Amino acid sequence: VQDFTSRVQAIRWQNDRLLLLDQRLLPAEERYLELSTAPEVAEAIHNMTVRGAPAIGIAAAYAVVLSAAQHLANGKQGQAALQRDIEVLRASRPTAINLHWALARMLQVLAAGPADLVAALQAEAVRIHREDREANYRMAELGAALLPQDAVVLTHCNTGALATGGYGTALGVIRKAHADKKLKQVYATETRPWLQGARLTAWELEQDRIPVSLLVEGAAASLMQTLKVDWVIVGADRIAANGDVANKIGTYALAVAAKYHGVKVMVVAPSSTFDLQTASAAGIPIEHRAVEEITRIISPAQGYKNVGGWNPVFDVTPAGLIDAIVSERGIVHAPLAGRLAAIAG
Ligand code: MRU
Repeated sequence: VQDFTSRVQAIRWQNDRLLLLDQRLLPAEERYLELSTAPEVAEAIHNMTVRGAPAIGIAAAYAVVLSAAQHLANGKQGQAALQRDIEVLRASRPTAINLHWALARMLQVLAAGPADLVAALQAEAVRIHREDREANYRMAELGAALLPQDAVVLTHCNTGALATGGYGTALGVIRKAHADKKLKQVYATETRPWLQGARLTAWELEQDRIPVSLLVEGAAASLMQTLKVDWVIVGADRIAANGDVANKIGTYALAVAAKYHGVKVMVVAPSSTFDLQTASAAGIPIEHRAVEEITRIISPAQGYKNVGGWNPVFDVTPAGLIDAIVSERGIVHAPLAGRLAAIAG
């Protein structure tokens, strides 16, 4: 329907099977894994085969279809197995609220109990996938309209087609601005330790022939000091009712540096990322992952025995550091408590 689609597809549903582009291998290798059970999908979410808040939710929705097809013919036992699978999916990653949101939508279909439950669940998963893509297009238009002509933007992590139903949130805004010839330069942080920026964002933009310059995160404040950056544009894993945003570790540091240098901060996220039940960031669970994700580049080659690590993979940006939150339902400027309900789910 749109003239600005991306060719990158992280998630495919084909012949009742779920295909996930293995994001751990990119950009060296473009390989799809075929998954046929919900626990396999939960593991793929946990081990970062598929990542990015909306993509995690979409993959989990398809996993419920796989589980229903496998178990539901099996009476009460089958229903219990399906419920167990849903709990395993729910626990696969803690911070992205999109996972809970997508499972809640699938549970609503289950509760309604239509005649052909598997077909109804499949239709709902396909709808969740399609609606996310459509939300991306809308946010892209809204967000790109905020940028000045010849905009210089800095983005973090990967928020593109790989992280969503297709196209992207923050990266969708950047794609649209490029299509509209408004963009002068895109900078992307490499995003330690998984290198979502260097491996995924750079790869996606290269696929779509959008020039990008990579920088190490430590260079971001210096970039803002050295040249005029107009906007920092990022996604979100969860947005609390007061406008606090949980996103990839390093987002907070970018927002603090942006404030100091007079650079604006835009958060782009679909309504499925809003958690109005949670009052502020204090209530958002922040995932910590294995310390080896950080230390593997130094040990064991150098023989360290007592080097530990601290590996939170998300951080919280207080609402006061954010200039605009863009969802498919509209934009909230200077997001303060009470203003978000209009654009949340
Ligand atoms: O650990 P990841 O790669 O799943 O983290 C992804 C992010 O932090 C993204 O910014 C967020 O999920 C939004 S993706 C549209």
